[in-house]
Amino acid sequence: MAASTALSTSANPTQLCRPRASPNKPAKGLGLGTGRDRFSQRSSGGGVTCQAASSIPADRVPDMEKRKLMNLLLLGAISLPTAGMLVPYGSFFIPAGSGGAGGGTYAKDKLGNDIKVEEWLQTHGPNDRTLAQGLKGDPTYLVVEQDKTLATYGINAVCTHLGCVVPWNSAENKFICPCHGSQYNNQGKVVRGPAPLSLALVHADVDDGKVLFVPWVETDFRTGEDPWWKA
Ligand code: FES
Repeated sequence: MAASTALSTSANPTQLCRPRASPNKPAKGLGLGTGRDRFSQRSSGGGVTCQAASSIPADRVPDMEKRKLMNLLLLGAISLPTAGMLVPYGSFFIPAGSGGAGGGTYAKDKLGNDIKVEEWLQTHGPNDRTLAQGLKGDPTYLVVEQDKTLATYGINAVCTHLGCVVPWNSAENKFICPCHGSQYNNQGKVVRGPAPLSLALVHADVDDGKVLFVPWVETDFRTGEDPWWKA
């Protein structure tokens, strides 16, 4: 069969020569042609097929200013959707805002709703201590005083021994830790070990009718000492 020769007359920016395999001489891959136009060639050992190609006219090559403009347009087109994806992704790693002023956190009930003072006092009587979600998510007792007002402090329920949540025992009028038996009085002051320290305090302020927990950095009114939890 006669060896075929491909001839292309259309302009092509690349020039590819493809050696044709022959029984005596295997093909050796691609080779790049040179010159303005290249047509088929034949070697004695096998055929080489080349596509005709032409160099791009100079007036069709974009100048540097156009290239920069195109790059900027491309960058803008990529940046907008990328930023749109990164913002929600980044916000995932930022703790949810407390919603309170001055670094405080609104107390939340067991359903995750903000606690409204008026409603709370309708359902919680004198000497009540009920857990709410406090600063950094810590379980924190809201205290109802004997005169049926909300105390201006809350008590962090995390035991200072090894971190168990300490339940309120209304019959004993104490907080008694179930893990190793530490006891705290009704204001959270330690009265029996092995817990070394009293339960931490927070301020329980009222903001817009809701309970707002604020860090307690002043003297511990139960001991007259600086708060150990401030450090
Ligand atoms: S964790 Fe409370 S007494 Fe040990």
